[in-house]
Amino acid sequence: MKSSNTQAALYNDTVVRQFSIMAVVWGVVGMLVGVVIASQLAWPELNFGIPWLSYGRLRPLHTNAVIFAFGGCALFATSYYVVQRTCQTRLFAAPLAAFTFWGWQLVILAAAISLPLGYTTGKEYAELEWPIDILITLVWVSYTIVFFGTVGTRKVKHIYVANWFYGAFILAVAILHLVNSAEVPAGFMKSYSAYAGVQDAMVQWWYGHNAVGFFLTAGFLGMMYYFIPKQAGRPVYSYRLSIVHFWALIFTYMWAGPHHLHYTALPDWTQSVGMVFSLILLAPSWGGMINGIMTLSGAWHKLRDDPVLRFLIVSLSFYGMSTFEGPMMSIKTVNALSHYTDWTVGHVHSGALGWVGLISMGSLYYLVPRLFGQKSMYSVKAIEVHFWTATIGIVLYIAAMWIAGVMQGLMWRAINPDGTLTYTFVESVKATFPFYVIRVAGGLLYLGGMIVMAWNVWMTAISGRSVDTAVPAVTAHA
Ligand code: HEM
Ligand code: HEM
Repeated sequence: MKSSNTQAALYNDTVVRQFSIMAVVWGVVGMLVGVVIASQLAWPELNFGIPWLSYGRLRPLHTNAVIFAFGGCALFATSYYVVQRTCQTRLFAAPLAAFTFWGWQLVILAAAISLPLGYTTGKEYAELEWPIDILITLVWVSYTIVFFGTVGTRKVKHIYVANWFYGAFILAVAILHLVNSAEVPAGFMKSYSAYAGVQDAMVQWWYGHNAVGFFLTAGFLGMMYYFIPKQAGRPVYSYRLSIVHFWALIFTYMWAGPHHLHYTALPDWTQSVGMVFSLILLAPSWGGMINGIMTLSGAWHKLRDDPVLRFLIVSLSFYGMSTFEGPMMSIKTVNALSHYTDWTVGHVHSGALGWVGLISMGSLYYLVPRLFGQKSMYSVKAIEVHFWTATIGIVLYIAAMWIAGVMQGLMWRAINPDGTLTYTFVESVKATFPFYVIRVAGGLLYLGGMIVMAWNVWMTAISGRSVDTAVPAVTAHA
């Protein structure tokens, strides 16, 4: 191999550092709002009669903050880091990369102001009004250029599988956003959807489910395929499986959206198609999970004393759990029980806290010391503490919601011999109260862990210095 003239070139890690830090900051903010709304569900007086703090406005603030601000920043940070290392080249179009950082922070800020003020399109996970949608489009087009430009100017022939997942996430989110946010402006910060009636619902849940599949899954699988082998010091268990995993997952996710619209005005056959594809989705999801976990073969002992690896591997157990549960909930007769109940919320958070949260935290713990020229995080003990508080928090949260959800479903459908309902709705609300309190406790633990992480990241950053590592001169595989 020859040495190239890239010897002195440095990776562009400024933008990686910026996104990493903001992922932690938005994680704390988004989870704090999560704890507030969880508390409001238990004690509604916490709305304080102030419209800006009402549950209906803070709930979308929570979902936008955790998904797009926390998850989004973690995805930007890791994808920019991974694509440079695996392509052995500097990030393409540095000014555009910088624009994606500042533009994305502006989107988040606009969301944090407009949602509490009550501006919303009313479409879940796509609540932001049209001027913000335009800014999102500009940022996303820039992201696409930076990412694919880097892949296009790579110094190695092969495109590592993590980049396939990140690439699919970027392209799919672009399509989802453009189609679902098609709207007719009716004044500043007010618009109407371009679709009507059941078509609007179908487009919305095609978007909603693929937001889960691509924003909350595909990009995080990109993290899995890079950071688990790196942290474990082992190659990916099966590279062939990773390719099958990729195509099967990408193809199947696109068709599963109708499982959100069971027993609605949507044609029955469409609901059945959604159900069948959701059941099929179990296979690629578990294929990916197994590939990630088995990467540890021969290195299982590392789990004993490496808390970062524990974050990464336990995230996969939650991924497996939620991708088993999801297909089950998509079966119409099961959905008849689970829909509208807290079972759905339990499912969401086993994926969100367990999978998305833990894999992001593990990847950030890998990244942060390297970005600040340190051997490891400031306190490894604090990572350990974070791991246990987060894990116990998740278990409390999801177990409480599962019990509450099944209980609500059973109470709502219970019928007396004379055909009247056994329980009034308010009786089910009263019965749910203790579980809402347990969820607040779980949420507090999870948030507490995130605050410990923020402290640890801060201490690592101030005791180190910002360093950009050099692009290797030898163009071997990363
Ligand atoms: C401290 C941690 C958290 C707490 C206490 C919390 C709490 C909550 C609460 C109370 C709701 C409303 C449930 C309802 O409407 O009945 C909710 C919804 C939601 N949260 Fe969280 N959350 C937390 C973290 C997260 C994270 C990290 C994510 C994603 C990465 C997330 C994603 C969501 C989503 C997608 C919904 C909407 C669920 C649905 O529509 O069914 N949450 N959360
Ligand atoms: C094989 C994979 C999966 C399938 C088939 C699946 C299926 C489902 C089903 C059937 C529902 C309930 C729909 C309803 O009754 O309204 C649901 C809700 C949801 N799932 Fe999944 N799920 C999967 C994986 C995941 C993962 C990994 C996450 C998170 C990272 C996730 C996040 C969500 C969210 C946020 C909702 C609530 C949507 C809403 O109503 O706002 N899912 N999923």
